[in-house]
Amino acid sequence: MRIGVLTGGGDCPGLNAVIRAVVRKGVEVHGHQFVGFRDGWKGPLEGLTMELGVEQTRGILPRGGTILGSSRTNVMKVENGVERVRDNLQAAGVDALIAIGGEDTLGVATQLAAAGLTVVGVPKTIDNDLNATDYTFGFDTAVQIAVDAIDRLHTTAESHHRALIVEVMGRHAGWIALHSGLAGGANVILIPERPFDIDKVCEYVEARFARQFAPILVVAEGAQPKEGTLALQTGDLDAFGHVRLGGIGQVLEREIQARTGYESRQTVLGHVQRGGTPTAYDRVLATRFGLAAADAVHEGVSGVMVALQGTDIVRVPLQEATKELKTVPVERYAEAEVFFG
Ligand code: F6P
Repeated sequence: MRIGVLTGGGDCPGLNAVIRAVVRKGVEVHGHQFVGFRDGWKGPLEGLTMELGVEQTRGILPRGGTILGSSRTNVMKVENGVERVRDNLQAAGVDALIAIGGEDTLGVATQLAAAGLTVVGVPKTIDNDLNATDYTFGFDTAVQIAVDAIDRLHTTAESHHRALIVEVMGRHAGWIALHSGLAGGANVILIPERPFDIDKVCEYVEARFARQFAPILVVAEGAQPKEGTLALQTGDLDAFGHVRLGGIGQVLEREIQARTGYESRQTVLGHVQRGGTPTAYDRVLATRFGLAAADAVHEGVSGVMVALQGTDIVRVPLQEATKELKTVPVERYAEAEVFFG
């Protein structure tokens, strides 16, 4: 069997660990061959391939990014996209494809599987917002990076009696903000699932200063004020029609300073959260996903995604994984709210 592998969407620590595990098990245990497709769905669309064997995957376990490259190319937005992918897979002699990606990449995988191609998905996103899996690899690393930053910001915030705002990633789901805020002892956590009241935020800031401590606010990039209360910036669209976010930290900096009189500064962590070496947890999860994906294609299944449920790696229908986003439930936010102010 000849198996194609691609990584799509925003990159994420642990992608190389998945690729390594897929190839190692696929070649050495199941006796298959692999070909790498470059830059996400752009690879199969344009026939961009690279050699992918055990040699190419040696030493990449701790390396961030992806040796295959990534992109947000959307097959469904390209004329005759499905046919072009089918033709190029055939030309490369590929019998099955392993697509490692988030909601968008796996959404395309779902449609290609429905169109008759053999596709197995591996869930990837630092956002942890994919349905049907308890965790995605990359999330733990992103949270740890954010917590390291928050720990550092606490000490400088105290020295200067400033309100410090940390903007983290998460356009639709506030998992990174929730976990890093909880672990970092944030005094306010704002997430997209819960539109915020700026007056309440300022109350928390003032309450924290009143106790002679400086507040740290963790805000997800997709957090929104309650309707009609504050104007936010919007940006350009990417290939999946997503607005390029960024700016909520700046809005909060301005508003908190103006409303409370306390000096406020924002730190936008941005792509730092996605770069560099994965944590041990993410390396293990990514490796287990890769091993399970190699088994799934070996058994000839299609239209499934490997997933973590409890401590087990299971297979779920791709459709299940992509039908809705996994957002932060009310009760999880309530746990964090105990520590606000
Ligand atoms: O989906 C992963 C992610 O890192 C999001 O948290 C973030 O909103 C987005 O990608 C940023 O994408 P880009 O790197 O294309 O700006």
